[in-house]
Amino acid sequence: MSEAIAYLNGEFMPLGRAKISVLDRGFLFGDGVYEVIPAYGGRLFRLDQHLQRLDHSLRAIRLDPPLTHSQWRTVLRELLQGDGDQSVYLQVTRGVAPRRDHTFPSRPRPTVVAWATPMDAGPPRPARVLTHEDIRWQWCHIKAITLLANVLLRQEALERDCHEVILIRDGKVTEGAASNVFAVIDGVLVTPPKSRHLLPGITRDFVLELARAENLPFQERDLYAGELAHAGEIWLTSSTRELVPVIELDGKPVGDGRPGPLWQRLYRRFQDYKQAFRRER
Ligand code: PDD
Repeated sequence: MSEAIAYLNGEFMPLGRAKISVLDRGFLFGDGVYEVIPAYGGRLFRLDQHLQRLDHSLRAIRLDPPLTHSQWRTVLRELLQGDGDQSVYLQVTRGVAPRRDHTFPSRPRPTVVAWATPMDAGPPRPARVLTHEDIRWQWCHIKAITLLANVLLRQEALERDCHEVILIRDGKVTEGAASNVFAVIDGVLVTPPKSRHLLPGITRDFVLELARAENLPFQERDLYAGELAHAGEIWLTSSTRELVPVIELDGKPVGDGRPGPLWQRLYRRFQDYKQAFRRER
């Protein structure tokens, strides 16, 4: 893939030429929201759901949508390069203000930026995972660009030879630092219910749809840290990593230390669905 094309405030340009002011509130305060949307075979997957979540995030930070869904669709399609699997990153901030002041500018002009990146092909690498207290703020349902806690947690995982951190708030699992969490407890697939403490993952909802289609019993309910420690299987979901089996939690094997049978079933179903989606164009 040649250098990505970026969209910045109405113009397309090579990504390396896309520049913003140091007075941008995204840069100064992390005052903005984002989305990451996968594309298979040159088609954006679950685009409507991602754009709806973007609207919710924008509403939650009191910023008017800078583009309509149909404008987003046109822009994002323009950024895709070829038919390989890619993900599009898009970000909307409260824009450049005349000076650094925490309160909103009176007439914000949002900064809108987006570009596509190739995604890794092939099955995911089984993950080793740590648990950690959820040290983030209370509004994790907003897909905010303010990700310092997530950054520090992911780096800690990396330095301890792990791939992700599963976060625990008041004894219950919320989500991963950049993923949602599923566990198989006594043969039932369990994932925490949507709340302000976790991002309503688009892949999470898709995996629940697949579970329903497979007649696999599942529950959206509180998942306790103690249950997680004895889960038969643990999975992580996200738009860029899809459905990842966890084989080690806090240094101990999950199940028999290999990707489990339910993961294999749903992973296959996920890939079949993607293949059909690619062909639908
Ligand atoms: N992150 N929870 C958090 C905190 C996330 O950052 C993500 C995804 C998810 C999964 O959501 P979805 O299935 O809609 O991708 C859950 C993206 C991929 C990122 O920050 O790069």
